[in-house]
Amino acid sequence: VEEGIDLKAEISRLKKEKNAVVLGHYYQADEIQEIADFIGDSLALAQWAAKTDASIIVMCGVHFMGETAKILCPDKKVLIPDLNAGCSLADSCPDDKFARFIEEHPGHTVISYVNTSAAVKALTDVVVTSTNAKQIVESFPEDQKIIFGPDKNLGNYINSITGRSMLLWDGACHVHEKFSVEKILQLKEQYPDADVLVHPECKGAVAKLADKVASTAGLLKHAMASSKKDFIVATESGILFEMRKKCPQKNFIPVPPEDSTCACNECNFMRLNTLKKLYNTLKYEWPEVVVDKDIAQKAVRPIRRMLEISE
Ligand code: 13P
Ligand code: SF4
Repeated sequence: VEEGIDLKAEISRLKKEKNAVVLGHYYQADEIQEIADFIGDSLALAQWAAKTDASIIVMCGVHFMGETAKILCPDKKVLIPDLNAGCSLADSCPDDKFARFIEEHPGHTVISYVNTSAAVKALTDVVVTSTNAKQIVESFPEDQKIIFGPDKNLGNYINSITGRSMLLWDGACHVHEKFSVEKILQLKEQYPDADVLVHPECKGAVAKLADKVASTAGLLKHAMASSKKDFIVATESGILFEMRKKCPQKNFIPVPPEDSTCACNECNFMRLNTLKKLYNTLKYEWPEVVVDKDIAQKAVRPIRRMLEISE
């Protein structure tokens, strides 16, 4: 990056010049959220990608989000500031092993969380996000046998609120698994009136302490509508940027990870994206997200099915 350059101004100029749109997930660093054209949860990012008429989509999130955008918009250029921005949850479900799991359990509908590779989506009947998982699971008859992957915590939570007994893949997110009952109870002692907000990727024991279990967008909505002043937030701490912006008079307390002295629990993959990398990505139109054509053709169906059901 050239010295003395005004990165924000240059990013805005390049966006206009190239008819590019910058989409950012709520877990991005504040500097990215400040400059993105749109920020949202994983469902909203997919919905945005599906409807934008920009020529270039820069996905400030992790790789599977870029893949989802590319699968929905095969003719657009989809860029991601750092190709190493993966996801431990997606990695916990390799496509060859998932294919074997499906083969071993015939007669099941396959529902996959959006946090999966394109190859896993290609094996899937319908994709879900944490915003629409309950609605989509309930759109199937009660006696329908279902495989749900890869997040066992989200799967267990959906089973518990729908009374279903979906067969679960044994995967998890290394960030959300780090939230512990102890740290939340400690914060509850300090802020006894606070609402505890929990993402469903957290362990069941943590979800039990929640006043609200929801996706990032759902937790934000709850905080905005609530008359409470304090909120203890058990999800990646990037969401606090938008919570504080939308509710400046309220107090948001991030739950620290159980095994560390850090005040916040951040996703190392999400945080690989920086303003400098975003600038270079726009300037050189690199790195690009590429999805194999055959896989994309299969994966687009369960993603579109999700978008239709969630309309
Ligand atoms: P949502 O954006 O759907 O809440 O998902 C959280 C997440 O972990 C994304 O990687
Ligand atoms: Fe994946 Fe977890 Fe990071 Fe989300 S927070 S991108 S699920 S590793």
